[in-house]
Amino acid sequence: MKHLLKMSDLNAQEIIDILNLADQLKYQKKNNILHNHLQGKTLGMIFQKASTRTRISFEVAMYDLGGYALFLSSNDLQISRGEPIQDTARVLSRYLDGIMIRTFAQKEVEDLAKYGTIPVINGLTDYEHPCQVMADLMTIREFKGSFKNLKVAYIGDGNNMANSLIIGCLKLGMSISVATPKKYEPASDVLEWAKDFKEFLLTDSPVEAAKNADVLITDVWASMGQEKEAEIRKNNFKGFQVNKELLANANKDAIVLHCLPAHRGEEITEEVFEENANVIFTEAENRMHAQKAILVTLLK
Ligand code: CP
Ligand code: NVA
Repeated sequence: MKHLLKMSDLNAQEIIDILNLADQLKYQKKNNILHNHLQGKTLGMIFQKASTRTRISFEVAMYDLGGYALFLSSNDLQISRGEPIQDTARVLSRYLDGIMIRTFAQKEVEDLAKYGTIPVINGLTDYEHPCQVMADLMTIREFKGSFKNLKVAYIGDGNNMANSLIIGCLKLGMSISVATPKKYEPASDVLEWAKDFKEFLLTDSPVEAAKNADVLITDVWASMGQEKEAEIRKNNFKGFQVNKELLANANKDAIVLHCLPAHRGEEITEEVFEENANVIFTEAENRMHAQKAILVTLLK
């Protein structure tokens, strides 16, 4: 494994190895045990979209690992004035040990990896959010003990989170049911890959997806870049809210995850959010531990 561009870059064993390392690094952080595996290494972080968690968790992760993280707003890079990604990739490869990029098109991330010579990590594109899903998987195992016989239900938009979750959950042998309104389904290539798994279900019925679920996951109805569609989407996603009534279909001890930021009153109610706040904020914390494991795996 040279890059983390999408969940399909990882096989089941690689996912488990990263999660095991993440658990170990979390233990070390909590117990003030030095874990400076990336002494002297530098990570460049390119952001074409806003971020709270990704930026801060990667920055602190590099600091804890003994390395250094550079925040690179794309507005300030020559990319914004048309310098091609091919050239940017080759220049950055001469200075840095790794690149994390958050952008719109998956192709940009793939091109950085293709033309550069250093590891590239996808910090979210319109297509995938693999770092978030690695943290989600870590959180599921932390709260449920193992992945055995678990059913995950994803309710909402068939977006980057849905795409990455489908691949991550199926690779680890979990069941995943995805409920989206018609025309908001996950990416067609992800559905094509998933269709042969008996553990996979795509439906437009949130109740069907939530039935006997151990983990419910949702995300915003309008992702970054879709702000203009927000009102239309609010209308089209009616009935896809994670609320008490929907949760009644899941297993009694079901947990609810949300990658954040959350829109209370839209994809999730205040009540369900607050009842699951410990899980949700552990999930946010686990971004840092999971990303440390990804960084060590790719950069060491
Ligand atoms: N979940 C997530 O990626 O958060 P940010 O957009 O704040 O980085
Ligand atoms: N689907 C959301 C995730 C935010 C972390 C978005 O792309 O905006």
